Amino acid sequence: MTRVAAAPHAVVVGSGIAGLITALHAVDGGCRVTLVTKDVLEHANTRYAQGGIAGVMFSDDRVEDHIRDTMAAGAGLNDRDAVRVLAEEGPSRIRELVALGVAFDRDADGEFLKGLEAAHSYPRILHSGGDATGTAIEKALVARLRASAVHVIEHAFLVDLVVRDGRARGVDLLIGDAPGRVGRRETIDADAVVLATGGAGELYAHTTNPPVATGDGIAAAIRAGADVKDLEFFQFHPTVLGGSADPSDTGAGDSFLVSEAVRGEGATLIDEHGRRFAFDAHPDAELAPRDVVARAIAHQMERQDGRAVRLDATHLRGTYAERAAFLARRFPTIDAAVRARGLDWAREPIPVTPAAHYLMGGVTTDLFGRTSLPGLYAVGEVARTGVHGANRLASNSLLEGAVFGARAGDVIGQDASARSWPVPTARTTPEPLPIREPVEGSDSTPPSPPFSRRALQLLLWEEAGLVRDEAGLTYAGSVIAAWRRDARTPRTEAEFEDENLLVVAERVVGAALARRGSVGAHFRSDSAAASVDRVPESLPAGAA
Ligand code: SIN
Repeated sequence: MTRVAAAPHAVVVGSGIAGLITALHAVDGGCRVTLVTKDVLEHANTRYAQGGIAGVMFSDDRVEDHIRDTMAAGAGLNDRDAVRVLAEEGPSRIRELVALGVAFDRDADGEFLKGLEAAHSYPRILHSGGDATGTAIEKALVARLRASAVHVIEHAFLVDLVVRDGRARGVDLLIGDAPGRVGRRETIDADAVVLATGGAGELYAHTTNPPVATGDGIAAAIRAGADVKDLEFFQFHPTVLGGSADPSDTGAGDSFLVSEAVRGEGATLIDEHGRRFAFDAHPDAELAPRDVVARAIAHQMERQDGRAVRLDATHLRGTYAERAAFLARRFPTIDAAVRARGLDWAREPIPVTPAAHYLMGGVTTDLFGRTSLPGLYAVGEVARTGVHGANRLASNSLLEGAVFGARAGDVIGQDASARSWPVPTARTTPEPLPIREPVEGSDSTPPSPPFSRRALQLLLWEEAGLVRDEAGLTYAGSVIAAWRRDARTPRTEAEFEDENLLVVAERVVGAALARRGSVGAHFRSDSAAASVDRVPESLPAGAA
């Protein structure tokens, strides 16, 4: 009697663009797929993406130019092979999204509308619903997933990976946990586990990320011994609606993104005297790479004693009525948020500040999402594919999720059936951890505040944020080490999240301490190179 081999079982953790595409490709490739997500399917970071998805979709654009722009924004620390894959396969993946039901905005002739964002040499950003691209993608993919054979488990929190004999064999979940109710623990066996858990914006006091972004996948991968890399590269988006540099002024998660596409349409950044200060930092001013613009704003805010700079859209289009209509049509989500705060951006510039946005580093993968741990894959923001280098180019994140999610989904079945796991091509050495435990009674170490998530967010905002130095990072490292040492064994989802944030925070700070020079999003004010790192020469000494 011939025995028919059972279809390999893949568990995908996370429901943003990368997880959903991976699941759909894996099920098409003959895998049995279970997708687990800590909230409901729709509540992933993808939903909040406004600007759009970058890709070479027009005949007068070139793949080589997309590669060049991506490498330049990433300060050349990108993996060139990964960038080539991203740029070359991007158009097919965007066409696949269209086929899956994503309606990108088009003109009267049916041609895609073009959007420009910072550091792109061509307006190659497609958008949907004006500034609701992520929502449109998430909706279409979730509908497809619900109609597919993928088994979905919502409210399932990843406690840890199950690792046996040096291989990822499944996931340990906490299901149905909610305030006032402890959920049940359940283990699911798998031939392959795909982390698609997103980033860790909740590390910071100000973030554009939703509360679910607590670094769960990175922390689980670290505990399982998988390689992680580039965790010092945390991108700060230049413009969220805000009023003050004082992080204690607003609650975490309260930072509403004002898309870079607004600057792409011509809005400018002005100081309190109405001067366009971004030219001080870079000849491309508001459309310079994101890290440059974010730091320029932070420096300007320092000069203004913490008062926010302004984003000025009041010169766009002709009359006030035409401008108001244009802003409401092109940016309906932002327009509603701005007006809900009692501001009229067609008439007056609005206050903006930087906020933590995107983690370029993560779990190291090869070009198919394979990590250094056999059986474990990582896709989307949790992964460090190498495409972003030291600073991600605008609107490359949705593209990365689609391109590398599809690649991972396509190989999982073959890898599992072959039962000989390919050795990933992108192995790296583990991050050094130069953090020292605080010495009891030592005068040189200030006492640690008691742990709370808010205290951690404020610590990282202050000491491992847009601008870092050795003293601040060393202090942050010692506080985190003390918090980790004193932490109780977690039981609830919120406690597991806190543990994950601490695990990732320790690595972020360790990596930032280890990289002494400034590059891309990692800016060390104590580095010799800092003074030439596109910082305005007119800054007062030490202001950087
Ligand atoms: C934005 O719309 O400015 C954010 C898009 C991105 O992070 O690439």
